[in-house]
Amino acid sequence: MATGNITAAPRDNWGSKLGFVMAAAGSAVGLGNIWKFPYTAGENGGGAFVLIYLAFVIVIGFSVMLTEFAIGRHTSRSVVGSFKSTDKRWSFVGIIGVLSGLLIMGFYPVVGGWALAYVPKIATGLLDTPEAIGDSFGGFISDPVQPLLWMAAYLVLNIVIVSKGISGGIEKAGKILMPLLFLILIVVAVKGLSLPGAGAGLEFLFKPDFSKVDSHVVLAALGQAFFSLSLGMGAMITYGSYLKKKENLVQTTGMVVGMDTAVALLAGIAMFPAMFAFNMEPAAGPGLVFVVVPQLFAEMGHVGLLFALMFFVGLTVAALTSSVSLLEVVVSYLIEEKGMKRVTAVLSASCVMAAMCVFASLSLGGVGPKLFDTGVFDIFDLLTDKVFLAVGGMFICIFAGWRLNRIDLEKEITNNGKVSFPLFGLWYNLVKYVIPVAVAVVACAGILSGFESGKGAIMILALVIIGSTALISKKL
Ligand code: PHE
Repeated sequence: MATGNITAAPRDNWGSKLGFVMAAAGSAVGLGNIWKFPYTAGENGGGAFVLIYLAFVIVIGFSVMLTEFAIGRHTSRSVVGSFKSTDKRWSFVGIIGVLSGLLIMGFYPVVGGWALAYVPKIATGLLDTPEAIGDSFGGFISDPVQPLLWMAAYLVLNIVIVSKGISGGIEKAGKILMPLLFLILIVVAVKGLSLPGAGAGLEFLFKPDFSKVDSHVVLAALGQAFFSLSLGMGAMITYGSYLKKKENLVQTTGMVVGMDTAVALLAGIAMFPAMFAFNMEPAAGPGLVFVVVPQLFAEMGHVGLLFALMFFVGLTVAALTSSVSLLEVVVSYLIEEKGMKRVTAVLSASCVMAAMCVFASLSLGGVGPKLFDTGVFDIFDLLTDKVFLAVGGMFICIFAGWRLNRIDLEKEITNNGKVSFPLFGLWYNLVKYVIPVAVAVVACAGILSGFESGKGAIMILALVIIGSTALISKKL
């Protein structure tokens, strides 16, 4: 039953500043950095993609994240409530965010499940036959049953963490396990770089070749920036709503953006040199990390086994600290707007997500419905990464720039003048004018060029869903 108008209850706050930064960085750093960034860079030609991605992260990503933190803390509400409490007509932006959360959780746990599955796979001898690692991955993800069980196990972990509430579960998980992951990635990168022929990989990753750039590559870079930084759907609004008034938002944003980007680049540095040394194709696709990393460690004997195990434990944890934030967006909407108890909200959201994941997982074995020749897994990925997040981010900026009051924003970001932010004017103009126009142009050009590969129709579908959500959102 919709209650719609729940008065602001005292909110659970983040235990400490570090706890918040680590939790927000935990949301940002995930499969997006370690699984998606390397293969997307590989498929989009390497260096030039990376450069455009970095430019988007610095100019658009930083600004949008600061905007989300400011909106969240200003309104002290989760994603739908924060728009609704300002202006009912804007609640559609929040609903689009909740929908994006659902859609991403329609495939994210599938990949989270792969990472989890690789822990016992490696422990039980996957590395003994390095030549078979690639085939074994292909066989595993297209199996109708195995990945589903791992996806279910992964979702249960999410349910347990999110049921406990933010400072009980999410914060602790982030604080302990993020630094561990960073260390393991450094080990992987050092090992990769020590291989003969590794230099070609670095060159691929960092030497831009602009002849490979078209509007689809630019959209992929924009989508990657939004996805990797957890932006455009209110995850950071929800997290910001729990943030204490005295924290410095600008500094926090800088730290989260910095960590996220460092991990993505580190993952690239870990993956590409090894790939080139192994003579693999840079455009190897979603299996990249699941094939390259085990192969890299296979030649290192017992030590390699240990590192490989730690890597996949770390990857699972990184995925978890991200997916709990996706689940939290949907859950806090159900709690605040629909009056549900936390446990009921977590369980109902997870049931829907599990059902979507079943279709997503089966589609990788060629089973199940297709749309324009694209399977369910790819549809969810395309809808969210290429359209929903960027368009959501655009609306968040328009809301902040055109609906909120400049003075209120300045007070929120500078903690009533106590924190200096000399670039406030620049940030404000970026958010009000530049980012909405830039995102619209990149999205339109990318969608048009997507028609060549048949993906354009699915992206148009995303726009139709967004449009109809906007129209019916008052009833939700
Ligand atoms: N940023 C997360 C990752 O890189 C994914 C995510 C997207 C999380 C959007 C929350 C919101 O894996």
